[in-house]
Amino acid sequence: MSNKFGLFFVLAAVVLTSGWYLVEANKAFSDDKPKKEVPDAKRDLEQSTFMRKKLEASGQILEGLTTENSELIAKGAKILVELSAAEKFQVQHDVMYRQFSGEFQRTAKGLLDAGEKKNFDLAALKWMDATMKCLECHKFVRGARIADSAQ
Ligand code: HEC
Repeated sequence: MSNKFGLFFVLAAVVLTSGWYLVEANKAFSDDKPKKEVPDAKRDLEQSTFMRKKLEASGQILEGLTTENSELIAKGAKILVELSAAEKFQVQHDVMYRQFSGEFQRTAKGLLDAGEKKNFDLAALKWMDATMKCLECHKFVRGARIADSAQ
């Protein structure tokens, strides 16, 4: 077995583990949602639909990676790039949020590029990087919310 082949298996294992982690993190995340009425419920609803699209695209990319389907990877990555570009204008959060969003977009662009070039190893790494950035932003948002409610 060549080294490259071995590396692919390691990557595939990591990708699958992080995919599982994302699903679990997302479950815990939805359960954690505060039940109280929020004044900007409509915006929250839009954000929810928006994020669900990100989750869908992310799943599509994982499917593309596991079946070596570069078109599926590029398709999902393109959706992520477009969504994060729209987000920058849509969300009026603070500088930090925009920074998270910008970094996520850059990673999604790298993923798109790797998918288009059929570089599956690089695409796998970029997908993991993008997934970590989903989680990092969520962690930041939750932290900011706790800080807000303590005021
Ligand atoms: C720049 C910040 C940011 C990034 C990056 C980000 N999210 Fe989110 N996400 C949010 C915010 C803000 C919410 C809403 C938080 C809340 O209401 O608790 C959210 C909520 C969600 C939700 C819950 C939606 C619901 O039904 O309420 C899902 C699912 C989700 N994100 C998936 C993803 C995925 C998958 C990615 C990466 C591919 C991602 N997000 C990247 C900021 C981000």
